[in-house]
Amino acid sequence: MRDALQVTSEITAIGQGDRPKRVPEHVAIIMDGNGRWANQRGLPRTAGHRAGAKSVRAVVEESVRHGIGVLTLFAFSSENWRRPQSEVTVLMELFMSTLQVEVQRLVEHDVRLRVIGDLSAFSRRLQAQFRDAEAATGQNRGLTLQVAANYGGRWDVTQAVRAIARDVAAGQLAPEAIDEATVAARLSFPDVPDPDLFIRTGGEKRISNFLLWQSAYAELYFSDLMWPEFDADAFCAALNDFARRQRRFGLTSEQIAASANAVGG
Ligand code: IPE
Ligand code: IPE
Ligand code: MG
Repeated sequence: MRDALQVTSEITAIGQGDRPKRVPEHVAIIMDGNGRWANQRGLPRTAGHRAGAKSVRAVVEESVRHGIGVLTLFAFSSENWRRPQSEVTVLMELFMSTLQVEVQRLVEHDVRLRVIGDLSAFSRRLQAQFRDAEAATGQNRGLTLQVAANYGGRWDVTQAVRAIARDVAAGQLAPEAIDEATVAARLSFPDVPDPDLFIRTGGEKRISNFLLWQSAYAELYFSDLMWPEFDADAFCAALNDFARRQRRFGLTSEQIAASANAVGG
């Protein structure tokens, strides 16, 4: 949750006319449409997942180029286990093979990888691979790339509530002291700012249990392109759309304009 000071600094950023473009600090993406992309071409759904890896690479590289701080990609939701076993298996294999191939490239681009979600549901081998990839990129200071795997927004809030309950039961936290910051601090990745730009490809206009708490004030952007079609140009179009928006955080346009004038002189 943004406090008053953060809102002021957002507004300050809006007022800085010397900036060529306002770049989001954190972009979150629901990479949707792999299955339909494949079906449209008479291919099995899993071919769509393989094709989607190319878009991941393009978007990661564009994020680095634009100086975006955090990119969070929804790769597998807590609900995706309900899919046919054969598709789930291919997705797991794809996780493993992609990690193996991409880690070196991430290091070259100074990208720090993190996997977020309830990882206990994955095989020991895959969990170990996630940990190894995080360790191999842990020293990198460029883009933070968060891959959400077996992630669900409700799961995230629920595990935060559980942690709070433990602290209360242990006598370390008074119920009256619980505020939004208490909850935010116990979510999966409390050290990164909330998403500024939330993209979904594939034409659907829903959030599908992605970052529910964290996206409270995210700018939503929906693309009709299927994920394998979403390339560097499509990503830049989303960034340009974001740069044109006025974020108000509950204030009026007039307040934003007045504050920008005061800063800009
Ligand atoms: C997104 O593409 C990838 C995952 C959910 C793993 P889909 O597989 O949902 O593709 P569509 O929505 O069926 O086209
Ligand atoms: C959301 O896509 C999850 C991921 C992209 C990983 P889905 O395809 O699972 O979402 P729904 O089921 O259409 O809402
Ligand atoms: Mg889908």
